[in-house]
Amino acid sequence: MIEVLGLAKRYGGFTAVRELSFTVRPGEVLGLVGPNGAGKTSTLRCLAGIIPPSDGTARIAGHDITADPVAAKRSLAFFADEPRLFDYLTVRQHLAFVARIYGVAHHEAIAEPLLEELEIADKADQLPGELSRGMKQKLAIACGLLHAPQVIFFDEPLTGLDPLGIRRMKDSIRRRATAGAAIVLSSHLLHLLEEVCSHVLILKQGEKIADGTLAEVAARFANGETGVDLEEVFLRATGTSAP
Ligand SMILES: Nc1ncnc2c1ncn2[C@@H]1O[C@H](COP(=O)(O)OP(=O)(O)OP(=O)(O)O)[C@@H](O)[C@H]1O
Ligand SMILES: [Mg+2]
Repeated sequence: MIEVLGLAKRYGGFTAVRELSFTVRPGEVLGLVGPNGAGKTSTLRCLAGIIPPSDGTARIAGHDITADPVAAKRSLAFFADEPRLFDYLTVRQHLAFVARIYGVAHHEAIAEPLLEELEIADKADQLPGELSRGMKQKLAIACGLLHAPQVIFFDEPLTGLDPLGIRRMKDSIRRRATAGAAIVLSSHLLHLLEEVCSHVLILKQGEKIADGTLAEVAARFANGETGVDLEEVFLRATGTSAP
């Protein structure tokens, strides 16, 4: 469960996110969308405890990210668009290292199927420098999923993945939601979000302009039309539609 109340993020005098409140329940996948600079990454970084919020509160699986950051971080995984890895650890050593940090016992039993699922099992003894960009991303994802997080934040997780990789990642996200994870997925690939998200939240210049189920948000911007897709909703909602 993710509970966000009155979240704000300011960088000096500039407000990147203001008065943001929303909830993501177990089993839900929230698509966080908005134009470049809308505040998506800033929001996710605050929720994952990477940068401090300027205002408001966020609870991750019941733990306040500011007051109780260790318990909150034990319950979450955050995937940035650029994978951060250790140059001198192989794929398998990454998983062993992360397992120790998170106190995951008998991690091999979890790590091996994860590597298979993400299709990097044959690279288990390679260093990051020997992996392609997409493979690095898959390794970062395997590391993040090792401790079976209840809350998962994805910031553009599909950049760099091939079509099969994207499909597998969609299945993987759906499976984890079905297993009870609360997930936020930020992406510009709106057709893809339509396939995996139960809910959507539209941000513009740091402010929420709509949220709800895909159907609710679509209905709000459909102007009575049927078959309006998320891309059209996005363009209408953010005022970036061609005149
Ligand atoms: N460390 C920082 N210092 C100052 N301003 C920042 C910093 N990080 C982000 N910003 C500003 O905050 C605003 C929101 O940025 P953010 O990265 O959250 O947007 P985004 O919605 O993730 O955009 P994109 O779709 O391009 O990834 C932007 O105007 C950006 O310039
Ligand atoms: Mg971003």
